[in-house]
Formats: sequence, C-alpha cells, structure tokens
Amino acid sequence: MRPLHLENATVMVTGASSGLGVEFAHQLAARGADLVLVARRADRLAEVASQIGSAHGVTVTTLTMDLAREGAAAALRRDLTQRGITLTGLVNNAGFGYSGALHQVDDERTLEMVRLNVDALVDLTATFLPDLRASGNGILVNLASLAAFQPNPGLAVYGASKAFVLNFTQALWEESRSAGLRVLALCPGPAKTEFFEVAGEAAAAGLPRMEPDEVVEAALKALSRRHPPSTVVPGMANTAMAQLTRRVLPTRLVASTVGRMMRRGEVLGEAHGQER
Ligand SMILES: NC(=O)c1ccc[n+]([C@@H]2O[C@H](COP(=O)([O-])OP(=O)(O)OC[C@H]3O[C@@H](n4cnc5c(N)ncnc54)[C@H](OP(=O)(O)O)[C@@H]3O)[C@@H](O)[C@H]2O)c1
Repeated sequence: MRPLHLENATVMVTGASSGLGVEFAHQLAARGADLVLVARRADRLAEVASQIGSAHGVTVTTLTMDLAREGAAAALRRDLTQRGITLTGLVNNAGFGYSGALHQVDDERTLEMVRLNVDALVDLTATFLPDLRASGNGILVNLASLAAFQPNPGLAVYGASKAFVLNFTQALWEESRSAGLRVLALCPGPAKTEFFEVAGEAAAAGLPRMEPDEVVEAALKALSRRHPPSTVVPGMANTAMAQLTRRVLPTRLVASTVGRMMRRGEVLGEAHGQER
C-alpha cells in the first residue's frame, strides 16, 4: 500500500455529534482531512464543526440526517453531489445499543437498531464505495465492537449487528486491497462516550472503559501501516478477551458467563435502552 495521506482527503464521519465520532473528526482534521459530519442533532454538529474549523483550518460540512430512515444514503449522495463534494474516506460510526432480553424489549426499537447498525452501514458503504475505490488512497472504517466476537445475552441483537459488521468488513478488506482502499473493522470494548446513556449503564457489566482518543488513535495507527490489518481491537485486555472468547473458550461457557454478568447488572429482566 502507498503511505496514507489525509491532507487531500475528504472523509465523512457518521454519528459525529458525540463520542467516538467527535474524536474521529478531531483526529482526522488534525491530519489535514476535510470533513463531512452527519448525525441527527444539528446543534451538536455545528458546535463540533466550529471547534474543528478554528483548531485545524479544514473545511467541515455538516448534514443533519436520521440514518435509520430508508433512503438516507441516497439522500446524502444527492446532497454531496449538489455541493460538489466527492468522498475519499468514510467512517461508518453511527450506531446504538439497546439492552434487555429479546422477549421483553420493544420490537420497533430493536429493528431501528438493525436499520442503523446494519442496513444503513451497508447502504452507505455500497453507495460511496465506487468513490472510495477511485480515490486510490481511500479509507473505510466500520464500527464493530468487542461484542462482535461472542454471544451477548442481554444485548443479543446489538452483538449480532456488530458480528455482521465485523464479518462484512473483513470480506471487504480483501475485496478492496487491489484498489488501494484501506478497510478496517474497529472493535472497541467499552469506551467513555454517551453509548451507555442510550444502551443502559448496566450493559457495561462493570467493565473498565477506554478513553475515546485511545480508541481512535488505535484505528488511525492501524490504517497508517504499510500493510493495514482488517481488524483492530484497541487495548491489550480487550485484544486478549477477543482471542479468548473467539478461539479458546467454548461458546457455551462464554454465553453463560456473559449471561451471568448481565443478570448481575439486571440487564436481563427488563428493557434498558433509552430513545434519544
Ligand atoms: N462506547 C462504547 O463502549 C462502544 C463500544 C463498541 C462499539 N461502539 C460503537 O461505536 C459507535 C459510536 O458510538 P459511541 O460510543 O460514540 O456512542 P454515542 O456517544 O452514543 O454516539 C453515537 C452517535 O451515533 C449517532 N446516531 C445515533 N442514531 C443515529 C441515527 N439514527 N442517525 C444518525 N446518527 C445517529 C448519534 O448522534 P445523534 O443522536 O445526534 O443522531 C451519535 O453521534 C457505535 O457504532 C457503537 O456501537 C461503542
């Protein structure tokens, strides 16, 4: 792969109004990338854009959109075409968790999560992939999770949505190498964002949380390698956990241990997700 240069890049970051999305925006801008920031909360996006514009002098475009709605990717593409913006990078970061046993949670909220974490991510990727490939030095980062490596009682659909993202992204990594497109599945463990305000604090199961800047630094470091990996799990403890749950321990043991942790946090028993 050619060395990664972000000075002439234009990267769209979804879910850029809080958490990891804001951190991606800052770190990409610090490396010289122009940005397109997408989320539903316009006021938050405007605040992030103004901080980044003054700190790094890059061009920041904000687009307010609910990505869980059908046709969101096509609408974004139309909007960017009208503005004369061609993407060279995409960070599919928007996502949320909704916890509780499946028979006790709200079906519509569960399906909304699948529409955002899976449908929108695939649609955005497919819509912008030709541009990313054509750029010759593009990047595509998809937010999976440490949860992608194991069964997640209490977060069954969230975990499955992230397993989808991981598998999908690893396949695209291979499909994209010949085009010089760097594709990365980012699999963080718990991080200090608004994620658990939405998913329910108990979903963290008492695990330590990483700083968002460390998570994003791990992603950009992996993308900068001469031979970028398909997958990164930030943090040594999380990397060890992913290896253990995927390759060493029997699935039955992993599922029952996670189930016990979720029962202790009372995630299994009632729905915990908050709507924003
Ligand atoms: N934090 C963790 O512990 C953790 C661990 C593993 C993976 N992840 C993944 O990391 C990604 C980022 O999460 P985070 O931790 O940064 O959480 P966060 O602070 O809650 O940020 C989520 C972002 O997604 C946006 N979003 C939510 N629903 C949306 C919709 N329908 N349309 C457009 N944007 C939407 C939110 O913006 P608006 O509300 O303004 O729309 C927000 O900017 C997610 O995919 C999450 O699954 C997080």
